[in-house]
Amino acid sequence: MDLFNKTTAGLGSIGQYADEAEGYYVFPKLEGELSNKMQFQGKEVLVWSLNNYLGLANHPDVRKADADAAKEYGMAYPMGARMMSGQTKYHEQLEQDLATFVGKKAGYLLNYGYQGMVSIIDTLVDRHDVIVYDSDAHACILDGMRMQVCKRFVYPHNNMVNLEKQLERATKLANKNGGGILVITEGVYGMAGDLGKLKEIAELKKKFEFRLLVDDAHGFGTMGETGAGTGEHFGVQDEIDVYFGTFAKSMAGIGGFVAGDKDVIRFLKYNMRSQIYAKSLPMPMVMGAIKRLEMIKESQEYKDKLWVIVNALQKGLKEQGFNLGDTESPVTPVILKGGVPEATQITADLRENYGIFCSIVVYPVIPKGMILLRLIPTAVHTLEDVEYTVECFSKVKEKLENGKYAKEFKTMTA
Ligand SMILES: Cc1ncc(COP(=O)(O)O)c(C=O)c1O
Repeated sequence: MDLFNKTTAGLGSIGQYADEAEGYYVFPKLEGELSNKMQFQGKEVLVWSLNNYLGLANHPDVRKADADAAKEYGMAYPMGARMMSGQTKYHEQLEQDLATFVGKKAGYLLNYGYQGMVSIIDTLVDRHDVIVYDSDAHACILDGMRMQVCKRFVYPHNNMVNLEKQLERATKLANKNGGGILVITEGVYGMAGDLGKLKEIAELKKKFEFRLLVDDAHGFGTMGETGAGTGEHFGVQDEIDVYFGTFAKSMAGIGGFVAGDKDVIRFLKYNMRSQIYAKSLPMPMVMGAIKRLEMIKESQEYKDKLWVIVNALQKGLKEQGFNLGDTESPVTPVILKGGVPEATQITADLRENYGIFCSIVVYPVIPKGMILLRLIPTAVHTLEDVEYTVECFSKVKEKLENGKYAKEFKTMTA
C-alpha cells in the first residue's frame, strides 16, 4: 500500500471541516497593525483572539528595539546552535534576567516554547521515573511525555483528591523502580482560563516526594503582583521546581524559557536535544525580548490596563447572563449551548454583521453540544470595545436561544 494513501483519505479531527472552513474559521488572515482593530477580508474587525495580553506587540518602543536589532545584527547572527557557535552575552543576559524576574536562580532560553517543553520533559525523566499530570495538559506536555517510556498517571482536571491517589500509586511505583516523580500542571489553562491548583499541589509536597513543573504560558506577565506568574499569584512560586514560560503571549515575540535551580538548568542546558541540535535564537528575538522584559519590569501599566479590560469584559458578560466557566485569568471563555452548525453561524454573524472577530472552539476539543467563544482581552482594548462587545454578544445570545442560527443553517444546507 502507498504510504501516502492516508493523505487523501481524510484530514483528521481538526481538518475534517477544512474544505468549508479554511480561510474563514481556520487559517483566517488578519491583516494590518497588531492591535484591537485589524482587517479581515477587507473589513475592519474588533479582534479578541490575540494573546497579545500586555499590548506589547505593536508598542513603538518594542518595534524600535526589534528593528534596531535587525539593523545591527541581521536575522542570521549568531550562526549555529548555542553549544557550538551560537552563544552571545545577550542570550545569557536575557536568561538571567528572566530567571530573576520569576524568582529563580537560573534560566535557559528555548527556541520555541512547544519544542522546549517537549525537551524539558524528555530530559527530566527516564524509564525509572513516573509522571503525574493534569488531564487538560497542553499538547506540548503530551508530546513531551511520549518521548520517554516511563509510566504516567493522569488525574482529572484540577481534581486534587484524585491527584493524591495518583501520587500514592506513583510513589509505590517510583520506589520499586528506584526513580522519582514529576508532577506537571499549567498555571493558567489557555482554553478555559481557570488556574492550576498550585497551592494545593504545593501542599502535597509535604506528604509526597515529587518535583513540580509548571507550564505558565498564559500566566507569565499576566498573573501575580509583579507579573511573575501564577505561582506568584498563589504565593507558591518557590514550590515550583521547574518554571516554563513562552514569549508567544505576554512577551509578544517567539521563543520561551525555563527557569529553576542552577543544577537543574545546567542539566537541561546540556541535555535538551531540541536546543542542543538546533540553531540559536536570532538577535532581534533576543534583544527584542530583553526590551520587553525591561518594560514589564519597569511598569505595571500594561498589566493594570489589561486587568481593567479583563474585569470590565467578564463583569459585563456575566451581568448579561453569560456562562464564563471558572476563569480567574484574562482568558474569557463564553460557553454556549449548540453544535457545530450554530457555532459557525454565530461566528459568521459576529464577523460579518457586528465586526467582531473571536476564536471559536467546538467538539472534539470541548464536549458535544457546547460552543466556546474564546475572548482574549488585552491592554490595547478600550472600555468602548468592551461595551460594544457585550451588547453584540447579548444580541447573538438571543438569536441563538430563539433558534435563529439553527434555522438559518438548515435553510443554507437544504
Ligand atoms: C499552555 C501552553 N504551553 C505551551 C505553548 C507553546 O508555546 P509556543 O507558542 O512558544 O511554542 C502554548 C501555546 O502557545 C500554550 O498555550
